[in-house]
Amino acid sequence: MGARPSPEEARRPGVPTWTFPLLLAGTVAVVVALAGLGPGRGASAGAEPRVPAAGVAAGAAPDVAAAPSGFDARSTYLGDCAICHGVDGRGTSRAKAIADRGAADVDYALSTGRMPLPPLAERHVRIVRHPPRYSPPEVAALVAYVSGLGGGSGVPIPHVDLTHTDLAQGGELFRGQCAACHAWAGNGGALLNREAPSLHRSTPTQIAEAVRVGPGTMPAFGEAAFTDDDLNSLVAYARYLDHPRDRGGNALWHLGPLPEGMVAWVFGIGLLLLTLLWIGESAHSQPHTWRDP
Ligand code: HEC
Ligand code: HEC
Repeated sequence: MGARPSPEEARRPGVPTWTFPLLLAGTVAVVVALAGLGPGRGASAGAEPRVPAAGVAAGAAPDVAAAPSGFDARSTYLGDCAICHGVDGRGTSRAKAIADRGAADVDYALSTGRMPLPPLAERHVRIVRHPPRYSPPEVAALVAYVSGLGGGSGVPIPHVDLTHTDLAQGGELFRGQCAACHAWAGNGGALLNREAPSLHRSTPTQIAEAVRVGPGTMPAFGEAAFTDDDLNSLVAYARYLDHPRDRGGNALWHLGPLPEGMVAWVFGIGLLLLTLLWIGESAHSQPHTWRDP
């Protein structure tokens, strides 16, 4: 028998054999932690508190009769809106006509707090969600007044019924018609200059209003695009997106397939490389008996 290297000699000096198993264990721990822990919900959802539903529970039409005594819709309109939209609602150089836009549009604008703009707002200021200026009954009274200016024309407030909806159908419509702008998880996304907002704070009625009216740069979807049943399912799906079930484990903040792919590359490939190194290293530390028959 020739001189067989002792296990101590076979080891490369300076690299203890336990280094690679340790690294391997560390990587596995990180992957497991990522899969199990971490926030399940998207970061943008819940970042801001949900604005209280402006008087419109699912399906309930605003109760005009409940307008508070002492609230005068006409003088409120003249004081808060006429400077931009005109005394008769036919528009001015500062903002367009709203008289014939219909109840859905006015209710959307007021219940999401987008209107009224501050009187000195620039012509092309970004119009975004705010806490509503008026209480739900006041909104209802203003909606009735403004749509009355146009003789009640335009889109009426949709009646949302969430009792018989088809979530799968709603999901299909959402991914086909809405996700391009609002992102597949409804968290909102970037358009060219104008960001499409998150849907997590919208009430069911506001979602239906936005779909039928097409506020700002959003397209309107009439009955030809979605039947009322489609609309109900779409609204149900948008609601479902507030608390989606994440079947694949950690949702990675619902950022989509790109970060999920990154995790596969960084941790998956990393794990493979470490395993290969470890196998190579432990082969090194075995006595090479095959060379020495
Ligand atoms: C400082 C000016 C200003 C005031 C005050 C104001 N608005 Fe507006 N409003 C705008 C602008 C600007 C737009 C965006 C459309 C445009 O460019 O004309 C708009 C849009 C709207 C729309 C959506 C119209 C559409 O595009 O379909 C409604 C509805 C509306 N306003 C209602 C109101 C009501 C009701 C009030 C009062 C409570 C009010 N606004 C007060 C400037 C104003
Ligand atoms: C072309 C891009 C685009 C598409 C497609 C689109 N939206 Fe929008 N959406 C917007 C923009 C921009 C706004 C903000 C409008 C404004 O200024 O009030 C908006 C606003 C909304 C809001 C109001 C959010 C809030 O603040 O409460 C809802 C709800 C909504 N969209 C739902 C939908 C649904 C449902 C679909 C699919 C049927 C859809 N959108 C399709 C761009 C889009």
